[in-house]
Amino acid sequence: MSSRRLVTLSVNGREHEFDVLVHRPLLEVLREDLGLTGAKECCAVGECGACTVLVDGLTVNSCLMLAVEADNRQITTIEGLTPGESLSPLQDSFLAHGAVQCGFCIPGMIVSAQFLLDSNPSPTASEINEGLAGNLCRCGGYKRMLRAVEAITEPEA
Ligand code: FES
Ligand code: FES
Repeated sequence: MSSRRLVTLSVNGREHEFDVLVHRPLLEVLREDLGLTGAKECCAVGECGACTVLVDGLTVNSCLMLAVEADNRQITTIEGLTPGESLSPLQDSFLAHGAVQCGFCIPGMIVSAQFLLDSNPSPTASEINEGLAGNLCRCGGYKRMLRAVEAITEPEA
């Protein structure tokens, strides 16, 4: 049986075909074949969230998902959340609150935080904490990140 498969990945609204090894992680294809280096490889075992992307609208650790598992699915990376050169309100808020230190965890944090805000525009502090619980920051900037997300939540109607 062949260890390769032809897959179609829809990434940030564009379709790409790849002939991939069946054990190749989605993260590797995104970074090495598509040059989308926003998602980072850190632990590579699903513990840190640095590689977070959206697959069919849900957050996924792309270091754990195989490219063949993403066949014919919609993938959104940090690059796809902010079309063009401008920053999203959430990215602006992270900068304004000094929540970015070395920056390594930030793309994954932003993807998770944006997912949270899209599904719940008025999260409480504990819901924000919970929403970001899968993303680790070695620099320890959690409080500032929490404030950055809180600052752009919508008031309860
Ligand atoms: S690099 Fe994927 S969870 Fe850490
Ligand atoms: S800002 Fe450095 S790891 Fe989070």
